[in-house]
Amino acid sequence: MMRFVLAGLTVVAVAAGATGQSSPPTFSKDVLPILQKNCQTCHRPGQVAPMSLVTYKDARPWAKAIKAAVTVRKMPPWFADPQYGHFTNDRSLKQSEIDTLVQWADSGAAEGDPQDAPPPVQWSTGGWGIQPEVVLDMPPHEVPAKGVLEWELIALPAPFKTDTWVTSMEILPGEPSVVHHICFSFEKHKPTTVYNRYEWVQVPRDETGNPTPGNSGFGELPGMIIATRDVGSTEVKLTHGHPTLRQGLDFCYVPGGGYDDYRVWNSGKLVPAGSDIVVSIHYTTNGKEVVDRTKIGFTVAKTPPAKQFIVQGAGEDTPVIAPTSASTRAVFASAYDPKFAIPPNEANYLAPPMDITFLKNVEIVRLRPHAHVRGKSAQYKLTYPDEREEVVLNVPHYDFNWQLAYGTSLKVPKGTRMRFEFRYDNSVNNKYNPDPNRWVYQGFQSWEEMMAPNLGFLVDRDADVGGLMSVSN
Ligand code: HEC
Repeated sequence: MMRFVLAGLTVVAVAAGATGQSSPPTFSKDVLPILQKNCQTCHRPGQVAPMSLVTYKDARPWAKAIKAAVTVRKMPPWFADPQYGHFTNDRSLKQSEIDTLVQWADSGAAEGDPQDAPPPVQWSTGGWGIQPEVVLDMPPHEVPAKGVLEWELIALPAPFKTDTWVTSMEILPGEPSVVHHICFSFEKHKPTTVYNRYEWVQVPRDETGNPTPGNSGFGELPGMIIATRDVGSTEVKLTHGHPTLRQGLDFCYVPGGGYDDYRVWNSGKLVPAGSDIVVSIHYTTNGKEVVDRTKIGFTVAKTPPAKQFIVQGAGEDTPVIAPTSASTRAVFASAYDPKFAIPPNEANYLAPPMDITFLKNVEIVRLRPHAHVRGKSAQYKLTYPDEREEVVLNVPHYDFNWQLAYGTSLKVPKGTRMRFEFRYDNSVNNKYNPDPNRWVYQGFQSWEEMMAPNLGFLVDRDADVGGLMSVSN
């Protein structure tokens, strides 16, 4: 206790000395700039956080809670170990900022002179983070009060008439409480593609909703049952065979996710005229029947940007993955790995590590580790051609509720390898664990597990993106 108080006092003294302030910080002058920069993306009306921190009146009742949340670095949510890597979107607070917020709370949380306040941030309207120029309305989707919904895929014509460079994307869920995630990618139109029809893999499940091990809808397994349902109809048709739709991960909405803005890298994504947009939707029921009306928004370039942004392919047949890859385990997301099996009550399971080799020079600009409720930690390590090793991201305490993307600027020469190590906690000490006594295999549902390192790259606008990397494991 004594040590804690002393440490606190020292910090306060240093902060006051450093800024040359003698009077305690005020909301208008000292606190609001921090809230605008680090908190208001979520803490404003209509966003994910439960309360607004926009005005003094909004924030004043939360002074003590703010102090508590920033002192333990619970807020803002940021999970990268500061020892490793450098992140362009690092929103964690500097120690001096934490000190200011703590001092403000401890000294009576004064407003100060409103004249000192910076102008309010001009947020986009309608709940968007970007100000979309093109908006696609998804068909309304009924979500029942209970039960398990598989990941459903649906194809729609992309909302662009000509070849278009998309420069930002955002998904605005209609009913955020039931939207577990929505991902989409632009795909070339195939003759077999039917618009406005949901398609999913019917996974055999027991009465608790758990799938038969080894048959969780992951990858293309023999004997799969494919279900389809037309928009607006309740009739489900079942057939044996393969899905007609395939979807990559050009963009995903996940809780805490936000939007993608490629303009910061003077880049974009080229969507050829006539492309389809294939959307994968995963709803989780929450006890109330609702109708979700999700929108997808885009901004588009007037002139082609300098770079093109690409995400790693989610499947074997994407051109980003070298066709020579002998791996039967799909890159990151789409195949079932029988070696991936978390024993009951195992607190620190290391998944079979995954490696990729870059076959061309690339710039990595985004790392987004994705696991489910048993996810514990994630580490990304580069080994350069000269065998020098560098940990570029270490997330020691992965939190399923925050699917954060870490922005980087890693220029990676051809021949560099990247290794991903994910750990899982299937013990009773993991408060999100629905059942520590089960074996856990790979699958799409949140009680199954995933190991998806999700990378984003930049290459020159006209570069050939074929065979960017190979995979081994
Ligand atoms: C990425 C979105 C996001 C950002 C950025 C963010 N918050 Fe939060 N905050 C949330 C959400 C969501 C909750 C409620 C759920 C929770 O507590 O995890 C929350 C809860 C809180 C709480 C409630 C107390 C608690 O511990 O549960 C406080 C206080 C808080 N935030 C302060 C801040 C401050 C101060 C900042 C900036 C320095 C900030 N937050 C940045 C999303 C965010």
